[in-house]
Amino acid sequence: MGNFNKKTIRDINLAGKRVLLRADYNVPLKENQILNDFRIRQSIPTIKYILDQKPAALLIISHLGRPDGKPNPNLSLLPVAKHLGQLLGKKVEFAGDCVSDEAKKAAGQLGPNGILLLENLRFHEGEERNDPDFAKATVEATSADLFVQDGFGVVHRAHASTAAITNLLPSVAGLLLEKEVDVITKAMQAPQRPFVAIIGGAKIGDKIEVLNRFIEITDGLAVAGALANNFLVAEGIEVGSSLVEPEAMPEARQILRRARSEEKRRDFNFFVPVDAVVSKSMNGQLPTRLVDITSYSLADIEAYPKKPKLSSYSVGREEKILDIGPISAAQIAGMVKMAKTVVWGGTCGATEVKGLAGAQAPFAHGTRLVVEAMIGPSNNHKNKPFSIVSGGDTVAYIEAEGLADDFSHISTGGSASLDLMAGKKLPGIEALADK
Ligand code: 3PG
Repeated sequence: MGNFNKKTIRDINLAGKRVLLRADYNVPLKENQILNDFRIRQSIPTIKYILDQKPAALLIISHLGRPDGKPNPNLSLLPVAKHLGQLLGKKVEFAGDCVSDEAKKAAGQLGPNGILLLENLRFHEGEERNDPDFAKATVEATSADLFVQDGFGVVHRAHASTAAITNLLPSVAGLLLEKEVDVITKAMQAPQRPFVAIIGGAKIGDKIEVLNRFIEITDGLAVAGALANNFLVAEGIEVGSSLVEPEAMPEARQILRRARSEEKRRDFNFFVPVDAVVSKSMNGQLPTRLVDITSYSLADIEAYPKKPKLSSYSVGREEKILDIGPISAAQIAGMVKMAKTVVWGGTCGATEVKGLAGAQAPFAHGTRLVVEAMIGPSNNHKNKPFSIVSGGDTVAYIEAEGLADDFSHISTGGSASLDLMAGKKLPGIEALADK
């Protein structure tokens, strides 16, 4: 396949081998229930391919959440093992640890063509520290002969299971990793224009580089979600109790300056929300207000057409921005409707929040408007752009709405896909054997 220059499982002999597969099963969980299994489903083709080659054993490792090096029963991979077994129609054994005697015993007992999922790698500090001893302990516990990297969502991290482990075993890519890299890098090489991006979600820290890159290569860039709060602050706008990353403020200011000067230099637009849905709590049970943060044109109907009180167009100290407002959504939708290529990473609001009965997903309206602009009113929408979508909440939202087939590529990576689009080298890919 096209752009991918690393060896894959198709390039090596897997028969009779003990294959150690790194997947990214970092899936959303609530009370040990899997809320969205997209990443698990996307790992199936690689697993089936490996099993078809008749390996001696298939040992799967993954992380889940950020348990900070300590065991945490709420972040156990056991529900994933059960679910994976259901999807495969085959028992998936589970070991309650990934390095100890328990792991060794479970790995030793595995019959030919058996599958074992080992407990969350991040229950050990060595994983995120990229500790060679921890990598060695994983290899020893599983008696693996070769390593397959298929956790696309985590290859932007240099951790023991993405970096150190590749020094110990012959290491190749799985089919998901190959597909993701191929589709994303091809789209970035020669995007059909207009090419626009919407970057939302929560964490700005992971997205600085892609934002800088998109200022250079896109025709329009919109920031949304909690990430946009940092830009509102950079513009001098009060955001009350909204989520902001103070340590990222210098970068947010710099990005804003660069984007505004790029707007003067060429045909490029940078969108920062101009209105927002706010509430005192994210639980979806309290009243919401629509705040027009920059143009002051909307207000309580009683106040119109008089100049409204300052409080009606500013975010209160105890309020949080939880969605973009309709004017911002319309601006982004307008940009998207003109586009031939759209990259969308991160929702525009807290789409995962359920509201009171009859008012489901009170902070998903902005995202919905943007999605409708992207996919059009029907599946045969002629001007539908080529779309790449990434990010856990974004994918969960699309799937919950039954819209997954309306996008060109849904990535299992969040930051990993954005880093790839930013042109960064991803350590978990670099470490694999070249073709
Ligand atoms: C993700 O969900 O983006 C990946 O699984 C990586 O997780 P991390 O951001 O906790 O490293």
